[in-house]
Amino acid sequence: MIKIAPSILSADFANLERDIRRIAAADYVHVDVMDGVFVPNISIGLPVVKSIRPTTELPLDVHLMITQPVRYAAQFCDAGADLVTVHVEADSEENIHAAIDQIHAKGKKAGIVLKPKTPAEAALPFLEKVELILVMTVEPGFGGQTFMADMMPKVSALRKLIDEKNPGCELEVDGGVAPDTCQACIDAGANVLVAGSAVYKADDIPARIAELRGA
Ligand code: DX5
Ligand code: ZN
Repeated sequence: MIKIAPSILSADFANLERDIRRIAAADYVHVDVMDGVFVPNISIGLPVVKSIRPTTELPLDVHLMITQPVRYAAQFCDAGADLVTVHVEADSEENIHAAIDQIHAKGKKAGIVLKPKTPAEAALPFLEKVELILVMTVEPGFGGQTFMADMMPKVSALRKLIDEKNPGCELEVDGGVAPDTCQACIDAGANVLVAGSAVYKADDIPARIAELRGA
């Protein structure tokens, strides 16, 4: 079953609780944390994660687009994240391992994220210890960008590696996922789809979430 993770980056931040209730039919709440250094944008941080935690029973999927995520990974777990993902480009391999270990020590799920130019092989050092791998299908930093269909071979390659080495691991895609692009992601082997604008711009959000799950 395909899971949908609406990104609250496209929600109305003045009405965040209302907009989180609107996605109750989804599987995760995707929370984009940006530091203005790793990506050219600043979004939300620890106090917002803490504030939204009691507003939903859905797991919080916290996507850290920050440099040296090992500095903050444990704090995001304490703030209420259920899954914390860190970019492999954001620090040394050793420190990415340390971030994953800290997340696990908090009893939470850990994932790694690959930017569009980062090859599938970059996941290999972490593949057997993470619960999720996220493939960016846009350059991270902003919602509403165009889906990069040329990432689908990378998704397929990771699906094969996951099936061989860590079959319980989830495979997520993020960026430009919409009714016209979701099936390509599913066909390539993704099982979790992040969608920001495609969900929040829809007139009927539950229907859009159902549509994104594919045929
Ligand atoms: C981009 C973020 C995405 C973004 C997706 O850096 O990681 O989660 O919110 O937005 P859409 O679905 O509009 O491309
Ligand atoms: Zn994201």
